[in-house]
Amino acid sequence: MTSAAQANGSTEKSEQPDAVPQVYPPSPEFTATANAGPELQAEADADRLEFWAEQAKRLHWHAPFTDVLDWSDAPVAKWFVNGRLNVAFNCVDRHVLEGNGDRVAIHFEGEPGDTRDLTYHDLLAEVSKAANTFSDLGLVPGDRVAIYMPMIPEAIIAMLACARLGLTHSVVFAGFSASALRSRIDDAEAKLVVTVDGQWRRGQAAPLKPSVDEAVDGAESVRNVLVVKRTGIDVDITEGRDLWWHETVDKASDTHEPKPFDSEHPLFILYTSGTTGKPKGIIHTSGGYLTQASYTHHNVFDHKAGQDVYWCTADIGWVTGHTYIVYGPLSNGVTQVVYEGTPNSPDEHRHFQIIEKYGVSIYYTAPTLVRTFMKWGRDIPDAHDLSSIRLLGSVGEPINPEAWKWFREVIGGNKAPIVDTWWQTETGAIMISPLPGITATKPGSAMAPLPGISAKIVDDDATELGNGGSGYLVLDKPWPAMLRGIWGDMDRYRDTYWSRYPEQGWYFAGDGAKYDEDGALWVLGRVDDVMNVSGHRISTSEVESALVGHHGVAEAAVVGAADETTGQGIVAFVILREGVENTGDALIAELKAEVAREISPIAKPRQITVVPELPKTRSGKIMRRLLKDIAEGRDLGDTSTLVDPKVFDAIRGK
Ligand code: PRX
Repeated sequence: MTSAAQANGSTEKSEQPDAVPQVYPPSPEFTATANAGPELQAEADADRLEFWAEQAKRLHWHAPFTDVLDWSDAPVAKWFVNGRLNVAFNCVDRHVLEGNGDRVAIHFEGEPGDTRDLTYHDLLAEVSKAANTFSDLGLVPGDRVAIYMPMIPEAIIAMLACARLGLTHSVVFAGFSASALRSRIDDAEAKLVVTVDGQWRRGQAAPLKPSVDEAVDGAESVRNVLVVKRTGIDVDITEGRDLWWHETVDKASDTHEPKPFDSEHPLFILYTSGTTGKPKGIIHTSGGYLTQASYTHHNVFDHKAGQDVYWCTADIGWVTGHTYIVYGPLSNGVTQVVYEGTPNSPDEHRHFQIIEKYGVSIYYTAPTLVRTFMKWGRDIPDAHDLSSIRLLGSVGEPINPEAWKWFREVIGGNKAPIVDTWWQTETGAIMISPLPGITATKPGSAMAPLPGISAKIVDDDATELGNGGSGYLVLDKPWPAMLRGIWGDMDRYRDTYWSRYPEQGWYFAGDGAKYDEDGALWVLGRVDDVMNVSGHRISTSEVESALVGHHGVAEAAVVGAADETTGQGIVAFVILREGVENTGDALIAELKAEVAREISPIAKPRQITVVPELPKTRSGKIMRRLLKDIAEGRDLGDTSTLVDPKVFDAIRGK
């Protein structure tokens, strides 16, 4: 690991453990104005459900709920039973009605340098136009809409238009391939796909519409494709199916009356990788999800509407973009930056220029980006005035202490608190995190469950572990933003999350965790066959099935190996079919391209090794742990259960 001292060029002894304070208490100035106070925990401890009922008052309910929680059909929860609300009304109209229509909701910064500010007034007009268009296309509440778009305002507008009409959106990351898009469209039976002609990537206009054309070819459910002209590149338009946004949405009426929906009305499906090759469509609903999104955004980020400029660097293709770009922040009347491009377009100064330009005060990103900044060197951020930053957030993977300290010192001016937020696509919103102004933080630790949330670290036998113990992270009580199931596969839902501790009824998160000697909680990473590459969840078996999809590959085994920058890197071992010639680099390049084509360039293995055999147990199971040891260059432990221990010499080419 590059040490902070090397990366930032400083020579002081700040990296020596003894000289570094390991606990960072909140400053009295921060505490004095913090949104969260100690009463939150006290109230949650006194009566958890009453606490959540109180938080739900952050929202506008068209009809009040009669019960806070119905867990009688566990593990499918109903929160805020019988309550009725409109999610888009809460994120947009409400702010206009409260007199904040002129406040900027979105400062859009396009990759080529074009900019656009949308006030809440503008957002309401745009969302209304899109909602009118979607209705004109015949979509009715409960229908599914796939959104396959880069980070442009129309992506957020399309999501909110769905929410407004009770349509369930399924956002598919625009970096996914046509075949990944197709399987998600088919699984959800989406009727409409919203997309763009192309997207800007490092100064180039890259076509996206052709992927949609390929994906929807023969897809029975799709009736229309709505296309935003973003780059102006030439695309094919299929008469009767494809529509331009500027010819439909832009011309629609800008008024639209929102209708309330049941608190449990499905808001979105978001696909995420599991331990099998088939992604899971995680279902989230409305009232509970929005309550927790709003509560956490307010308290964890200490967000102050009308004062802060907030920037979450995620993509709307992931859950962080859903909850902390769209629903949480907009429900709280945020002013936020939305940036279309990569952090090094046109050069490595881009993020810091944006922070300086808009006076960003809250900056929420992933550890992998912090480590990339460290590699680029502190001269780059130091060339900018970052003094507006008053809070930093981290999500997606464990943040290593060096990166944490560098983040605080270099980006946070040695004063901004860092919230290391643990959560998942399935949890819908932040679950474990420090509360700024209250929690004394430790670099690398997510610290403790938020007020209203309950988590435990347990062993295989469900025994709770004390300080110093490490085991499995479980959530032992239902929470408002929890997933309500897996689309079309409720058995898989029960099996994946609830079958590990059936008697206790605990949710199994799939992460390992420990308490340190002071009781601070550290998330250690996945304990299943899911990799975490730059904060992206990718399953080993998905990559394996893409590799065996290549005509030359007989068998493949994939592991996540530690990587300095991306957290984990994908390492693959493949056995070729009889008679297939190993053409070396050419073959490896072909295999990498196959994975990019089948899944996404983000799933491309860092390394692929052709091997004569794979290590297997007597029952035929591939021993991934041993492959991981090889990939990470470790000594092999006990290999006695192997069919043929000599296989390792063969793999290493000895
Ligand atoms: O392993 C944990 C890791 O990311 C997983 C969830 O991935 P995903 O559903 O894609 O959502 C990512 C954004 C919420 C978790 O099971 N993870 C997420 N946040 C942290 C983390 N690991 C350690 N520390 C975190 N703060």
